[in-house]
Amino acid sequence: MGIAGNDWVLMKTARAPSNIAVIKYWGKRDEKLILPINSSISVTLDYLFATTTVAVGPSFTSDRLWLNGKEVSMESERYKNCLQQIRSRATDVTDEKTGLVVKKEDWKDLHVHVASRNNFPTAAGLASSAAGFACLVYALAHLMGAKETYEGEFSAIARLGSGSACRSLYGGFVKWNMGKEDSGRDSIATQIVEKDHWKDLVIIIAVVSSRQKETSSTAGMQTSVKTSPLLHHRAEVVVPKRIEQMEQAILKQDFATFAKLTCADSNQFHATCLDTSPPIFYMNDTSRRLIGLVEKWNAHEGTPQAAYTFDAGPNAVLFAPNNEVAKSLLQRILYLFPPAADADISKYVIGDQSIMELAGIKTVQDIESLPTPSEWSGIDAPRMKGELGYLICSRPGQGAIVLDESAHLLGGTTGLPA
Ligand code: DP6
Repeated sequence: MGIAGNDWVLMKTARAPSNIAVIKYWGKRDEKLILPINSSISVTLDYLFATTTVAVGPSFTSDRLWLNGKEVSMESERYKNCLQQIRSRATDVTDEKTGLVVKKEDWKDLHVHVASRNNFPTAAGLASSAAGFACLVYALAHLMGAKETYEGEFSAIARLGSGSACRSLYGGFVKWNMGKEDSGRDSIATQIVEKDHWKDLVIIIAVVSSRQKETSSTAGMQTSVKTSPLLHHRAEVVVPKRIEQMEQAILKQDFATFAKLTCADSNQFHATCLDTSPPIFYMNDTSRRLIGLVEKWNAHEGTPQAAYTFDAGPNAVLFAPNNEVAKSLLQRILYLFPPAADADISKYVIGDQSIMELAGIKTVQDIESLPTPSEWSGIDAPRMKGELGYLICSRPGQGAIVLDESAHLLGGTTGLPA
């Protein structure tokens, strides 16, 4: 092997964020290379991320993976493809601390250990595969000294893990260009604007508590491609125009256009699910009530105050253009969906606390005494206590980063979870 000794472990730890699409990816033209039938646009979320440690050592006898502390198989094609692509781009690496040198040709003989954790419950269905695969690819690339031969190449590799993962390498707003080539070389993510471009934007995620078994995105979109005429019309006619309009809205921070496009695209995505045979239902009654909350408020004000989008599950992701409007949005959500009387408020609204502070809400009683929102005055608003699991206040976030050794999830001498 050309490396001295048999008792070393080399590792790197990275962090990559979740993202939420505002123009949705739904449908592949190539299942193996994960090439989409349309381009998509997402915003990178702060506060929600995966942390991944990747390690190599001569004593490792197979590739192993621990997800949130539990060992799972690394046998799937998706993991293998990502690993193989990064391995084939590895270079000579010298460990700064020990002076250990791993030569380019040694990497193919070294097995990897991977440990990955999400800082949010996987069961909440918050796009954990996007953050996870982006993080895996980013950490592996740094461990193995892999270099991009063209800009966006790592995003094309993350795409082999999960389509939406290609967008999680970058911060701010990100576009996944569908590309034209059969090789997938040009099906890459590019940053539209960095996170500070629209830093006033507030993103509130409403995690819906009662959940049924869902159809996975991979399986769902496969059936949609086969059976939904609406999906093909959407990909060919609707999305290309929306991508252009959405990019402009983001560049100009034009919230009204952003909101209209975001809601319309989420609704059309769910319409294609209904147009699929057999139909797929990702939203539930709580999701629809959240749509009602936003639509009723927007109609009352005459211009979009907030926007919503839903992925392949019932959770809502809501947008407000700034803190003031986000405060009104949060008050409305809390008015219609108060926590159970014995709930711990610090666990009901997590993430960025500034909006809660602005709203002056410290206790469950503060929520009980919120005034009726004007659009509900004179109407007996249905207050759904305990219907939401919890809320996460977020903003546009940064892309993948390397963390220092204090973040390692594997033991420095064993290469096993601590
Ligand atoms: C509804 O990226 O999870 O979230 O490529 O099969 O892994 P695979 O699917 P995945 O699909 C995400 C679908 C979506 C929309 C989006 O993120 O654009």
